[in-house]
Amino acid sequence: MSTVQGAGTAARTPVTVRVPAKVNVQLAVGGLRPDGFHDLANVFLAVDLYDEVTASPAEPGEGPSVTCRGPDTDQVPLDRTNLAVRAADALALRHGRSPDVRLHIRKEIPVAGGMAGGSADAAGALLACDALWGTRTPREELLALCAELGSDVPFSLVGGAALGRGRGELLTPLDVGGSFHWVFAVADGGLSTPAVYRECDRLRRERGPGAGVDAVPEPEPSPVLLAALRSGDAKLLAANLANDLQPAAISLLPSLDDTLAVGTEAGALAALVSGSGPTCAFLAEDAASATEIARVLRAEDVCRAAHTATGPAPGATVLPPAE
Ligand code: C5P
Repeated sequence: MSTVQGAGTAARTPVTVRVPAKVNVQLAVGGLRPDGFHDLANVFLAVDLYDEVTASPAEPGEGPSVTCRGPDTDQVPLDRTNLAVRAADALALRHGRSPDVRLHIRKEIPVAGGMAGGSADAAGALLACDALWGTRTPREELLALCAELGSDVPFSLVGGAALGRGRGELLTPLDVGGSFHWVFAVADGGLSTPAVYRECDRLRRERGPGAGVDAVPEPEPSPVLLAALRSGDAKLLAANLANDLQPAAISLLPSLDDTLAVGTEAGALAALVSGSGPTCAFLAEDAASATEIARVLRAEDVCRAAHTATGPAPGATVLPPAE
C-alpha cells in the first residue's frame, strides 16, 4: 500500500486527547530579556490531573470553534484567542488547509492557576487536530508549533519530567525514579502570568542596585534537586523545591501565605506556589498523607478546592475511541 507523504486519512469520528497539568519543582528566573521574556531553569513535573480536548469534524469552511466545561470555565475565552483554537489555526496554516474543527475542552486543571491548563489545551488541540485531519505532523514540528503557542506548551506535549531552558521551551527529558504524591490547593480566582513576572522584576528592582534586577544570576538547575528526582526521594526533593516567582505571587495575593502554612501544619514535607500561582502545591510523604492534607485544607477553608495527584504523568495522549 502506498501513501502520499503528509496526506494521512482524516478521521470521521471525534478524537480525544488527554493532557496533564504540571508543577514546577524548581523555577529559577533570570533577568528580563529584550523580548519581554525571562530566561529560566524550569524543572517541570507532569501530574495526573488532566484536561481532555476533543476535536470533532466540522463542515468545510466552518472554521474552528470551542466549548468548555468544568470549574471556572466562565473565565475561559471562547473566541480566536483561546489557546486551543490558536493551536488549530497554527496547525492548519502549517498544512495550508482550512482550520475546520469543533473543539471541546473538559477542564480539570485549574484555570489561570499556574499549572499550565491553557498550555495543556493548546498541546491537546494540536495533537487532536493532527489526528482528526490526518496531517501526520512530525514530532519535531509539533514541538516547534507548541513553542510558538507558549513557553509551557512543549512540556504539556511531552509530559513526564523535563528541564526547560530558554523561556522554558527548550526541553531536556529527566529521569524520575519513583512516584511523588502531591496536593494542589486551588485559590479563589487566578493570577495573570505576565503580572506575576512583572511583580518579580519590581521586587528585584526594589532591592536596589547591586542586589536587584541587574544582579540576577544565570538561572541554573539544582544538581541536588535533579538527583532527588532521579532517586525518587521525596524528602530530598521537598528540601530542594524552589520557585523564584513565589514572593511575587504572594505579594499579589498575600492570603497564599495562610494556605501554605495550613498545608505544612497538616503534614506536608514541603509547600510551594505552583509556577506563577495562585495554586499552592504540597509534597506529601505518601498517598495517605496527601489525602489527609487535602482534607485539612478543605476543612480550614483556605482554598476553593484541594486535589490529590501523583507525578510523573504521561504527556498528551490520544485516547482510544469511546465504545
Ligand atoms: O509563553 P507564555 O505565553 O506562556 O508567557 C506568558 C507571559 O509570561 C509572557 O508574555 C511573559 O510576560 C511571561 N513569561 C516570561 N518569561 C518566561 C515565560 C513567560 O516573562 N520564560
